Amino acid sequence: MSAVSDKKRITVPDEEIQRQREYTQLVRSIVDRRFESAPKAFVHTYGCQGNVSDGERLKGMLEEMGYELTEELSEADLVLYNTCAIREHAEDRVFGNVGALKSMKTANKEMKILLCGCMMQQEHVADKIRKSYPFVDIVFGTHVIHRLPEFLYTSLSKGKKVYELPECDGYITEELPVHRDSSYKAWLPVMYGCNNFCSYCIVPYVRGRERSRDPEVVIEEAKQLVAQGYKEITLLGQNVNSYGKYPDYGCNFAQLLRRLNDIEGDFIIRFMTSHPKDCTYELLDAMAECEKVAKHLHLPFQSGSNRVLDAMNRRYTREKYLGLLNYAYSVMPDLSVTSDVIVGFPGETYDEFRETVTLVEEAKFTSMYTFIYSPREGTVAAKLPDPISKEEKGKWFRELLDAQEKIAAKRTASMVGKTYRVLCESVSKGGLIEGRTQGNIIIEFPADTSVIGSFREVKVTESLTWILRGELQQ
Ligand code: SAH
Ligand code: SF4
Ligand code: F3S
Repeated sequence: MSAVSDKKRITVPDEEIQRQREYTQLVRSIVDRRFESAPKAFVHTYGCQGNVSDGERLKGMLEEMGYELTEELSEADLVLYNTCAIREHAEDRVFGNVGALKSMKTANKEMKILLCGCMMQQEHVADKIRKSYPFVDIVFGTHVIHRLPEFLYTSLSKGKKVYELPECDGYITEELPVHRDSSYKAWLPVMYGCNNFCSYCIVPYVRGRERSRDPEVVIEEAKQLVAQGYKEITLLGQNVNSYGKYPDYGCNFAQLLRRLNDIEGDFIIRFMTSHPKDCTYELLDAMAECEKVAKHLHLPFQSGSNRVLDAMNRRYTREKYLGLLNYAYSVMPDLSVTSDVIVGFPGETYDEFRETVTLVEEAKFTSMYTFIYSPREGTVAAKLPDPISKEEKGKWFRELLDAQEKIAAKRTASMVGKTYRVLCESVSKGGLIEGRTQGNIIIEFPADTSVIGSFREVKVTESLTWILRGELQQ
């Protein structure tokens, strides 16, 4: 099939978008009649940046329907939790927070409670919500977020519960309104779904098949963001390295980076996540050559043991991973690499875990996201025997953190005395400005809040293992 017909097949048709626009107007008129001033919507997103980006679209739709966004749960007329299913802990938090809404709903019967996101896309979770949380009004899956106006209309006009959780390969929906949480950092999804089926991971089951956005659409969105003054654009996908495989637009991820780098303006490009099995020298060369691409590579390795990597269905070896890093450091000497790792995969032995520690020592990561394995219903790994106790895994986990801490401390210490260009992001608890280097390290420094959202030069004066202190130059 040609790229054009593939694209048509996976894109939500214009007529459907139009239908939702009509529902948007219908909800708006109900809201105008029922509330004296704009009702308040509290939206909270859990999980990865891809989900956060969906959350920004959900917020955009709610605003178009006449809602005003609020950060105060207690004043909300509508609560929407956009959930994550990656680990048990993430799910437990959602159940706890939804349970806590029961008393709010009893006090205010008109309040609407909505749940969506990856967790809802699992049948056993939707069943549990139906049975144990009957006060929830609307539950919808990851493939139908564009139909929020329709669901809200059904609930507001007929008082009917909505459960809409279709199983499918997934779509691409362009043209949704978006409420961006930041005025200088933007998420830009380039692909959705995942085909990799790593044996521990729920994502391919809840997010559907891998599909890429048209490069022309991505580039146009990036141009608009730059014109609006955005300083950092982060390209998102579960495996950005396989961008452009389906549909085949004749533009792979390395080529997309080069085209984005050609956009005029003072901004930086980040991307995540890269999968080592699809990470190519072509991509690393593009990174090295594109001056707007941050020299930061997030390349999850998950385990240092080839036997465990195979059981995880990761489809690369420790040697291939370290070979990629070697090449990456050779073309980008200042590169900062971060990674994800899982401790206690079913059947992992202590010796195999030690291979993870030695890989960490060789790789010299700037920082790592470390997770204890969490069984996910329906995945291959959830059926494997898992004899190591939680306590034992906890011990391994701390051993790994200790090893990484030493490496991180050395790295940050080597930055003292040097000057870095940072994007100023926020104010720390201690009242200092937090700026982020290209390598994704935070430097705190005293300055006026007016610097937030701009690039500044900061000289590092002190290292605190994970972050740095510094002083503003000029
Ligand atoms: N697509 C990305 C990862 C997305 S999930 C990639 O392939 O790298 C983010 C991280 O969560 C993963 O890298 C993994 O380290 C962790 N993770 C995923 N499933 C998990 C599970 N069942 N238990 C513990 N950690 C898990
Ligand atoms: Fe999950 Fe693997 Fe896909 Fe990442 S690449 S989302 S870990 S299945
Ligand atoms: Fe979680 Fe779904 Fe992202 S499971 S990590 S929100 S794709």
